[in-house]
Amino acid sequence: MLSKQDNELISRVGPGTVMGNFMRQYWLPAMLSSELSAPDSDPLRVRLLGEDLIAFRDTNRTVGVIQNNCPHRGASLFFGRNEEAGLRCVYHGWKFDAEGNCVDMPNEPAESDFKSKVKAVAYPTRERGGMVWVYMGPRQSPNLPPLPNIEANMLPEGEGSIFIGMRECNWLQGLEGDIDTSHFGFLHAGAIDPEEMPGGTFSKYVTSNRAPQYAVLNRDYGTMYGAYRPAEEDSYYWRIAHFVFPFFTFTPPGPLGAKVSASCWVPIDDEHVHQIGFARTVPGLVRGVRGELLPRTSSPYRRFRFKANKDNDYLIDRDVQRANSGPDGYTGIRGVQMQDQAVTESMGPIYDRSQEHLASGDSMIIRTRRRLLDAALALADGHAAPCVDNPDAWLQRSGGVVLPRDADFVAATEGLRKPFMAHPEIDVAKLVGPIPAA
Ligand code: FES
Ligand SMILES: [Fe+2]
Repeated sequence: MLSKQDNELISRVGPGTVMGNFMRQYWLPAMLSSELSAPDSDPLRVRLLGEDLIAFRDTNRTVGVIQNNCPHRGASLFFGRNEEAGLRCVYHGWKFDAEGNCVDMPNEPAESDFKSKVKAVAYPTRERGGMVWVYMGPRQSPNLPPLPNIEANMLPEGEGSIFIGMRECNWLQGLEGDIDTSHFGFLHAGAIDPEEMPGGTFSKYVTSNRAPQYAVLNRDYGTMYGAYRPAEEDSYYWRIAHFVFPFFTFTPPGPLGAKVSASCWVPIDDEHVHQIGFARTVPGLVRGVRGELLPRTSSPYRRFRFKANKDNDYLIDRDVQRANSGPDGYTGIRGVQMQDQAVTESMGPIYDRSQEHLASGDSMIIRTRRRLLDAALALADGHAAPCVDNPDAWLQRSGGVVLPRDADFVAATEGLRKPFMAHPEIDVAKLVGPIPAA
């Protein structure tokens, strides 16, 4: 559990909060390049860490991310004219470039130089592999930190994909689901009979023993765990995963070595979060069903909202739940994504962690919270945030592997965890078995 005070500290990310300041030290993935499809295309409402912002792609293809309210008298720049390398407010015509400079003030006398004194809040951006990254922190160009090296966001064109879904709860509830291996055997596979799973597969191991043991380690970049349970008589099935500051996870489904992916939990505000997943397409690796999105609207809360959501109980089918068979049989909710959405949103917008009862299976969560709180409080005390200037901290691989019982899981998997390495020897479909994303 966390005290109410620590729970507030770790959850809230608005301007001036301890965790908000911490997150602002890092580049944040914020929107798809395709959401700003062409020069001078429609401005986009974006909410990030509780700040209302307007994103636009200017005439030179540069992405600007600036404050929603016009610095003149506050009209929303969403209605602005995106033209000639800037966004022009439609109220009195003041125009701002992607860096927030006021470049035109047409309702003032020509001799006035007031425009040189006005600046909109504007955040630096970078684009890589179809993602727009935003830096909302204190450093200025040319001293911005490097973009984090996320292997799955650095692939040759066409080899990777990006998924975004909104979750209507605090960012940490979503993230904690990613580093919580033991729920897999229940929420996603509770109705699966291990007798029906082919021998020698992750699907067999994960359903035959649903109470893994954990080895949790501190790392410079955050935390790492190996969760293990018996595979064959002389081996363990390990699920190996990482948390990397400030909100990245490298999750265990799929085989270590073959899988290239990263997830992150980018807060929209304290009660909404975008889950962003980068992944290399791996032949034979069946990922869990993601779920259908609603048509988008211009609201920052309606860019990536699912059709099955808390207002319709995630379309739960109680007959499927009663039948109790197959990957959806435990919950009656269709697909891994919706099952995760339902449980983490059902905890409430910001769960009060002083009410929980943590057990041994929560050791990775306990350690990760501690690391986050310590790092954010250290920043508040004047220390640097971890790894900000070490982009390779994010070069992690995760996944499942079968190891001899006496193996040290860190040393034994060093080769499989190396980035930018292909492992054609891994037969992905055969190893994973029939449960999606086991
Ligand atoms: S409020 Fe934007 S120009 Fe006046
Ligand atoms: Fe899950």
